[in-house]
Amino acid sequence: MNNSFLPKIGLGTWSLQGDVCVDAVSNALEVGYRLIDTAAFYGNEREVGKAVRESGISSKDIVVTTKIWHTELQPDAMKRSLEISLENLQTDYVDLVLMHWPPKDLRIEEPLMQLASFVEAGLAKRVGVSNFPQQLLEDAVRVTPVPLACNQIEMHLGLRQRSLLQMMKGAEIAAVAHCPLARGIYGQHPVLKKIAAKYSVSWQQVALAWLVRQPNVHAIPGAHDPAHQRDNLAALELILDNDDVASLDTVSNGTRVSVHPYPIPGLEE
Ligand SMILES: NC(=O)c1ccc[n+]([C@@H]2O[C@H](COP(=O)([O-])OP(=O)(O)OC[C@H]3O[C@@H](n4cnc5c(N)ncnc54)[C@H](OP(=O)(O)O)[C@@H]3O)[C@@H](O)[C@H]2O)c1
Repeated sequence: MNNSFLPKIGLGTWSLQGDVCVDAVSNALEVGYRLIDTAAFYGNEREVGKAVRESGISSKDIVVTTKIWHTELQPDAMKRSLEISLENLQTDYVDLVLMHWPPKDLRIEEPLMQLASFVEAGLAKRVGVSNFPQQLLEDAVRVTPVPLACNQIEMHLGLRQRSLLQMMKGAEIAAVAHCPLARGIYGQHPVLKKIAAKYSVSWQQVALAWLVRQPNVHAIPGAHDPAHQRDNLAALELILDNDDVASLDTVSNGTRVSVHPYPIPGLEE
């Protein structure tokens, strides 16, 4: 699958609500973001849809991702969840719809069939998954009737996901990094501080540049502040040298910052 439809950096909206969300998404679109990440669970699809509609940018040029929550993974519930998302977003189809988490019982075949039916019915252009560990993703690749466009996973300087990334590259499944700034926990790390000072940029730009320099890796930093949004997009222009990358590669220690709704084998170690 060709993943060129997916911008390297998009806007995460998990924490954005009400007018703050409308303003943040509007500003992001104005300064050049073309990938907006929402989810049924975030309770802000109406606001995301409003900002997209009012942007004056053709919806064909914006990729909106939404997700179906793990309690809604029975076929009828999935259909209902997507219908509500489309209603909230005020659109006939969504660009990308994901299973937000693997099913609790890890039985993936039925939900994957249902995702495929959305593509066939024209309700989603593409489908994918989120928070799938490697073994489960390999199983999913074997049974899905349509290609999986992405696996949205926690990935940042503290969590490199090397083996999973390699597998996803081989399977042509884009890696979309959620929590790409690890919610700020590496802000005081000496390696980051040194490289940020070397280029006179923020540590967030260094962290994002390190992520998206990797082929097949995209990132969706959450940011409501317009200055942060601009800063993050400008990370695309920061070229790190081999020494920088080698030092940044040493930061990873397996730390996770996102909370799992239930234990998922392969994500817990
Ligand atoms: N699939 C999943 O299960 C899952 C799980 C978690 C998250 N996500 C997605 O991933 C997105 C990103 O994750 P996240 O928002 O939790 O964490 P994050 O992107 O690691 O960090 C977001 C925080 O960083 C701050 N920030 C962003 N850019 C900055 C900059 N240039 N300078 C200073 N501070 C900056 C933001 O502040 P301001 O808001 O003040 O700008 C916000 O407090 C979410 O919004 C959501 O869309 C998905």
